Amino acid sequence: MSAPQPTYLHDYQPPAHRVTHTELTFDLSPGATRVKARLHLERHPDREDAAESPLVLDGEQLSLKGIAIDGQPLDADEYRVSDTQLTVHRVPERFLLDTEVEIAPEANTALEGLYQSNGMYCTQCEAEGFRRITFYPDRPDVMATFSTTVVGDAQREPVLLSNGNLVERGELPNGRHFVTWEDPHPKPCYLFALVAGNLQKVEDSFTTMSGREVALQIWVEEENLDKTDHAMASLKRAMAWDEQTYGREYDLDLFMIVAVNDFNMGAMENKGLNIFNSAAVLTHPQTATDAAFQRVEGIVAHEYFHNWSGNRVTCRDWFQLSLKEGFTVFRDQCFSADTNSAPVKRIEDVAFFRTAQFAEDAGPTAHPIRPDHYIEITNFYTLTIYEKGAEVVRMLRNLVGWEAFRQGSDRYFERFDGQAVTIEDFVDCMAEASGLDLSQFMRWYSQAGTPEIDAHGEYDYAKAEYHLTLRQRTPATPGQPDKLPLHIPVRLGLVGTKSGEDLRMTLDGEELGRDAVIHLREEEQHFVFTDIAEAPVPSLLRGFSAPVKLRFPYAREDLAFLLTHDSDGFNRWDAGQRLALLALDDLIAAHRNGVEKVMDVRVIEAFRGLLNAETDDKAVLAEMLTLPSEAYIAEQQPVVDVDAIHAARTFVKQSLAVALRDDFLRVYHDNASDAAYAPEPEQIAARSLKNVALSYLMSVEDEEGIELAQRQFSAGHNMTDVRCALTLLTHSSRGDLADPALRLFGEKWAHDPLVMDQWFSIQVTRPQADVLDRLTYLMEHPAFSLKNPNRVRALIGAFAGQNRVNFHRIDGAGYRLLADVVIELNRLNPEIAARIITPLTRWQRFDEQRQALMKAELERIRAEELSPNVFEVVEKALA
Ligand code: PHE
Ligand code: ZN
Repeated sequence: MSAPQPTYLHDYQPPAHRVTHTELTFDLSPGATRVKARLHLERHPDREDAAESPLVLDGEQLSLKGIAIDGQPLDADEYRVSDTQLTVHRVPERFLLDTEVEIAPEANTALEGLYQSNGMYCTQCEAEGFRRITFYPDRPDVMATFSTTVVGDAQREPVLLSNGNLVERGELPNGRHFVTWEDPHPKPCYLFALVAGNLQKVEDSFTTMSGREVALQIWVEEENLDKTDHAMASLKRAMAWDEQTYGREYDLDLFMIVAVNDFNMGAMENKGLNIFNSAAVLTHPQTATDAAFQRVEGIVAHEYFHNWSGNRVTCRDWFQLSLKEGFTVFRDQCFSADTNSAPVKRIEDVAFFRTAQFAEDAGPTAHPIRPDHYIEITNFYTLTIYEKGAEVVRMLRNLVGWEAFRQGSDRYFERFDGQAVTIEDFVDCMAEASGLDLSQFMRWYSQAGTPEIDAHGEYDYAKAEYHLTLRQRTPATPGQPDKLPLHIPVRLGLVGTKSGEDLRMTLDGEELGRDAVIHLREEEQHFVFTDIAEAPVPSLLRGFSAPVKLRFPYAREDLAFLLTHDSDGFNRWDAGQRLALLALDDLIAAHRNGVEKVMDVRVIEAFRGLLNAETDDKAVLAEMLTLPSEAYIAEQQPVVDVDAIHAARTFVKQSLAVALRDDFLRVYHDNASDAAYAPEPEQIAARSLKNVALSYLMSVEDEEGIELAQRQFSAGHNMTDVRCALTLLTHSSRGDLADPALRLFGEKWAHDPLVMDQWFSIQVTRPQADVLDRLTYLMEHPAFSLKNPNRVRALIGAFAGQNRVNFHRIDGAGYRLLADVVIELNRLNPEIAARIITPLTRWQRFDEQRQALMKAELERIRAEELSPNVFEVVEKALA
């Protein structure tokens, strides 16, 4: 087998032929579905060579049954079919192409194209799944209107859905029936969707700003009918928010969401027919945690927002993926911030970003927000494209200001409605609306890696000046040895050490106010703030104003000071994280050197202060009381020592628990409540605070803490509390606490796959050394299947990603297990295989012994016959 070849951005050409209208007929059958396609084709006016060009359509795993042009069946020598393409050698200027193919949805375990999930038919076409349904120019710059007829069994598939509006339905012989759908909005085929099965709907409606009534439907299997309320409410909020915030109105009379159990990603924005991973849409107080409720709200909004940022205006090619994803993630982040606690949303997003995206940027698969080549596009649905893309859009918003940003956005939607465009088109609109020169800013799109800023500050008493030096550097990444300086907005304040307040800042004679943005454009820049009457502590990169690593030699006293005085909530939290990190550093060193660990009392006092201060935002407090994760601590280490990190973090947690036991107990009781569950900010905040307190008490297996956890588990008020209690009991060292609770929970929820996923994850994230045996045992559990991505993520993903001490066991057993799974998944579901392998690709970060073990597993995988997905990742990891 020859190695898969990359596709390059610089090779982009418009297609030689375009489709203006697409007519599809599906005759459904699990093993032999027939797909008839009639494509209205014409030469592309932008391609001079279109007249001489053959017609080339993508197609994979299709068995061609018939082909005709303008009604004339083609002779065998007039076309050619390869593994990936159909070529018709000579075609007229404008013509109708009819094809008929056969496909086997029941055999589709990759979950791309048309497949079956729990007996129901569904599709996933982004990025290149449509080519597994029919022969087609499967690229986002070919946009057509669609008319789709679905024929199914009236009993088994009473519900037949596709994009747009239902225009006709009827009975057919042999117990079959059909429905025809028409989508008037031209779209690329990656937004096509079809769903067929025995589904039930929950219905509601929304009146748009111009007074149109839109029917809203959520389609689920019968047993999930009671789990759709939150998604529906979220959808309506999102629709209203997009009208108010971006002036964007929905454009069809019907908007549908379908929940499916087998799904590779979170959800998909197909026009008028969003398809969701059931985990990203279903909620019930008894089965879903607060975090899950918030995740559902965010994803429902995200997919809805795509209707404009993605569907009405789409991507020219897949290199532009961040055009729709970065912008849409930014939009959903703002929506969630507006609906919940804005500072907490930012803290959560950044905490996640700085661990996971920074790690990606520092690893062998690092790539720019706009990559310039790829082998398998599904490998590029990454944290970089999505989350860093969103950070870059956020910087744009902050650079040009909200008003110009909104004008730029209006311009973008108006100018490019119905088109497939590039990232430049978007940024140009922002530049035009604001009058700013964003040319240097564009480097954010082409340079991979996390920029590092080294900051130094000095207060000059005599002159009453504060001197700040910022130096930027972006480390080399694969294929990009040299980096240019970026345009980095640094939001800052100078907090007076006497007054405790943000000081007025004057820079080069210009009044900046007390909170301002300075622009770092050079490799090194000096900033002199004048008229600074008292010595300040700088609060830098407020709100995480740029996706960079910022180093500043803060003394611990400075951090304790910022922790209480910074006016920026995000930086108050970050000061606490930095303070904890300094203490953790010492303890990691002590652990390695075999010296006794001593807890830094400044951290204890800072936490005591937090626990005893008046607070109006309990959710932020809960975040502040949460120690940096092991993964984030690891990010700070030159060579990751998983055991020392685990020991140090556990030691800090336990020391705090012992020193502040009464405070934690008080906080627990103050925040316990019997109120009926609601996924509302205040309740959520109280629950997280209470549960953080409980986790401290349980870290030392405090008798009273154990009792509280057990009571919380049995009371069963809601899944947030139950899951937290079960996790703490399971992760304790005492089997007598874990086993009965796990058994009870497992029996109670055996019928609910999404709850069983939590049951799996809780068990495989326990820090005890026997966890690998348990994992092997759970892989044989009847509720587990490698064919279901949620199960794989719950069991294998949680173990390899979150149970760091055990995954990195020094005997390599964790690595071996993951490699075995990757090898099996490579055949079943290459997309998931290529994702689940990630922890193994990060071998450079560990000691030599572990490096050797991890590489050996990667080599073992490489020796297999690999899908392009896994091939691309493994080659990069071993390069
Ligand atoms: N486009 C989807 C989203 O971000 C994600 C997705 C990509 C889903 C590819 C499935 C396949 O909203
Ligand atoms: Zn998206």
